Amino acid sequence: MPLLELHAVTRTVRLPDLSELHILRGVELTVEAGEHIAIVGRSGTGKSTLLNILGLLDSPSTGQYLLDGVDVGRLGGRRRARRRGDDFGFVFQQFNLLPGRTALENVVAPLLYARGRTFWRRTRIAAEMLDRVGLADRLDSLPARLSGGEQQRVAIARALVREPRVILADEPTGALDVDTGNEIVGMLDAIATDTGAALIAITHDLAVASRARRHLRLGDGVLTPIDIAPRTGGTLESLVGSDSAAAR
Ligand SMILES: Nc1ncnc2c1ncn2[C@@H]1O[C@H](COP(=O)(O)OP(=O)(O)OP(=O)(O)O)[C@@H](O)[C@H]1O
Ligand SMILES: [Mg+2]
Repeated sequence: MPLLELHAVTRTVRLPDLSELHILRGVELTVEAGEHIAIVGRSGTGKSTLLNILGLLDSPSTGQYLLDGVDVGRLGGRRRARRRGDDFGFVFQQFNLLPGRTALENVVAPLLYARGRTFWRRTRIAAEMLDRVGLADRLDSLPARLSGGEQQRVAIARALVREPRVILADEPTGALDVDTGNEIVGMLDAIATDTGAALIAITHDLAVASRARRHLRLGDGVLTPIDIAPRTGGTLESLVGSDSAAAR
């Protein structure tokens, strides 16, 4: 059974002038456990909307989302929140760390909802995770004292500390320089592989996209497979830019 499946998923929002914006128009997606997928697409095509649906932060307007074969549209609020916390880790472009908390406290935070042994060992588990991303000596630093790359490592440690089955990354290198971005994505890729987590990354960055085994483009509200193997030539921009228009 696939880890997750989207069937005919749409997302429509009503704008202030009462017109409807059809962001997603029938997305089909199947992801197996441990798969690494890159999603590209022009700005405004609905990539973040799609990722938010996958991470149970938003819901489809119509269509079906199956997680382990379970229709998440039928889950009640509490079970849905539990699945979100247990199964998903999020990495964002802007890191989204708690500014008044140290690196260690930021990574401990998701474990405050854990139970039993994990809860009691939370500080050690978080410290080990920070060690794994190369920040063992910065546990007590506040985010403002860390570089962008270091902040993103803290964010990755926070996303992975509960060992999610799916890591959702929305432009994880968008705020970093090229070399730092490559390093960060290499790390994300390696940790996902080690832990067996699936990795779904939205990116404008060819280096990031080319690490994934499967590539999809979101355009005109639907996902289509693309081939970014070297033999196709061209740049990511040329692939992404082949949309006729944004989702509207
Ligand atoms: N709740 C909402 N209400 C109104 N419009 C919305 C809402 N959510 C998203 N949109 C619009 O839907 C479109 C898709 O947004 P989304 O953030 O998913 O795009 P994106 O592909 O992630 O873009 P980017 O690459 O710039 O991050 C945009 O035009 C956005 O303004
Ligand atoms: Mg976005």
